[in-house]
Amino acid sequence: MIEQRRGDGSLRHLITLEGLRRDEVEALLQHSQRYVCLAGQRPVRGTALRGIQIATLFTEPSTRTRVSFELAGRRLGADVINLELQLSSRVKGESMLDTIYTLQALHFDVFVIRDAEPGVLAHVAQHVGPHVSVLSAGEAHLAHPTQGLLDALTVRQHKGRVEALRIAIVGDLLHSRVARSAYHVFRLLEAREIRLIAPPGLMPGPDEFAGCARFTTLEEGLEGVDVVMMLRIQKERFSAAALPDGAEYFARYGLTAQRLARAHADAIVMHPQPMNRGVEIASEVADGPQSVIRSQVSNGVAVRMAVLETVAAGRGA
Ligand code: NCD
Repeated sequence: MIEQRRGDGSLRHLITLEGLRRDEVEALLQHSQRYVCLAGQRPVRGTALRGIQIATLFTEPSTRTRVSFELAGRRLGADVINLELQLSSRVKGESMLDTIYTLQALHFDVFVIRDAEPGVLAHVAQHVGPHVSVLSAGEAHLAHPTQGLLDALTVRQHKGRVEALRIAIVGDLLHSRVARSAYHVFRLLEAREIRLIAPPGLMPGPDEFAGCARFTTLEEGLEGVDVVMMLRIQKERFSAAALPDGAEYFARYGLTAQRLARAHADAIVMHPQPMNRGVEIASEVADGPQSVIRSQVSNGVAVRMAVLETVAAGRGA
């Protein structure tokens, strides 16, 4: 695994939550808290990233993650440039590293990267100069660390703590980087129970998600949980033949108000978005009183501000 810290122990890269200590995650969550912005409030701004140049490089589509990284950088005074990689160097055959070296020569200090291929982030992190940080905005099915942090922040905001909670992660677990990062953070924060609910074909193997209870029936898995985290069917990671039929999937695994009634009366419902309404979740739930999906989006900016500030602070001058 890639070393994400500098020699002095400060956080330099954030590619995975795996291997972070609880105190490091607590510090990031505390830090994020400063930037949490409730509806109607003016966002907190700062100057901590003045003079820093951030490049976002996404080879997979993104709305929330990209916009929130950009806003996070700008709110703290950084210059942020978004690169459309599909349109530029990749199609011309230039390797990712050549692009990175070019950007480094243009004095970019932070690279925010989303890529469908496992290992690209660590590869870049191993080759950049010592003053440069690499942040994941989603790596294949493996990790989405800032999403994990914003999910933890959202759970704390609405439920007060993670420790006592029963958390169900539901749906396309097999292909989900969101689920993997959520698992790491909820384990680290000592959730009472993490349940995985998925059709057998979308359930990860026993070598992953150690310690989780596994359910193939939604009704059974939701019984008494405090948090229901829904996942998108990752259509782009299926072959056409293997893609579940939307209506059939909804009939068995779609979260409806009736099914949600199995959970704790004050359970919260989460979804990283984009949502397939009528496939994994009914609109009555997505827009209902137990949904915290919009808080997740707002908290994403706060978390990314904290992460950017943390990695920039450790780099010295
Ligand atoms: C997720 C992603 O891309 O991993 N979206 C996000 O970042 N909020 C989830 C998804 O695509 O299903």
